[in-house]
Amino acid sequence: MSVLIVDKSKCQKDGLCVEECPGLLIQLPENGFPEIRTGLETGCVECGHCVAVCPHNALSHKRVRIENSPRILEELKISMRQADQFLRSRRSIRAYQAKPVDRNTIRRLIEIARYAPTSGNSQLVEWFVLTDRARIKNIAGLTAEFARQIMNEPKMLAAAPYLKMMLARWDAGTDTILRNAPAIVVASAPEEAISGFGDLVLALSYLDLMAPTMGLGTCWAGLLYGAMLHVPSIKSAVGVPADHPYHFPLMLGYPDVKYYRIPERRVPKIVFF
Ligand SMILES: Cc1cc2nc3c(=O)[nH]c(=O)nc-3n(C[C@H](O)[C@H](O)[C@H](O)COP(=O)(O)O)c2cc1C
Repeated sequence: MSVLIVDKSKCQKDGLCVEECPGLLIQLPENGFPEIRTGLETGCVECGHCVAVCPHNALSHKRVRIENSPRILEELKISMRQADQFLRSRRSIRAYQAKPVDRNTIRRLIEIARYAPTSGNSQLVEWFVLTDRARIKNIAGLTAEFARQIMNEPKMLAAAPYLKMMLARWDAGTDTILRNAPAIVVASAPEEAISGFGDLVLALSYLDLMAPTMGLGTCWAGLLYGAMLHVPSIKSAVGVPADHPYHFPLMLGYPDVKYYRIPERRVPKIVFF
């Protein structure tokens, strides 16, 4: 049986699915009902565009089923003005309430983040979530020690003044590394993900943008990322498998700060040809 399931009572034979299939896998044979070209089924990346583009609800796919592909509700579309303010007002959160973030809430965020695009629809991004305070504190401490070790290296010259201040505050008892965030969410991808880092950054960006709609805030944990990249034992303490070369951690929690303005950004350099 083909992966395409055509409801012949609904199909209008309009060929929209043929036009849309990114793998050029679908054809309309003489009877006009779409089918996958013989022998090409393995080329299907299961993007579901054939199901999504059919206005007649006539197509399903064995692994992207129409019943799991909800209709896009016009009434939920956001305006350009709403999107403009929403995107520009997102801020990194560095002050969190002590309130924990429950697993279902984090699961919900990841459920949304998995809709971010992935190269070839590979969907190889995996998630590691830390909510244990002691474990997070320990990882922040390991990161501080890593920063202390590299601070005086010549290539760290530009960052040294910041690292020095950051560590002085850390030593005085302030978590300047993971900001006492109640949760750390790490996205990772295995070697075979050809655009693994891009894929997981996009997924984290979705999570980052979704978080404020649920009253949550995030901050990209670049210091921890550097430590994970250079010290295998820190990567392992975070829980990321050794064979996942791509990873990035995000702090997550309920903000203890509110912003009232959108700070200006640099004018972008744009070259049109
Ligand atoms: C890849 C990446 C790594 C970052 N790492 C850190 C970090 O380790 N600590 C921190 O406080 N902020 C970190 N940030 C947050 C940036 O400093 C922040 O995005 C930038 O100052 C702009 O502020 P905004 O996010 O509020 O617009 C990071 C951001 C990115 C994109």
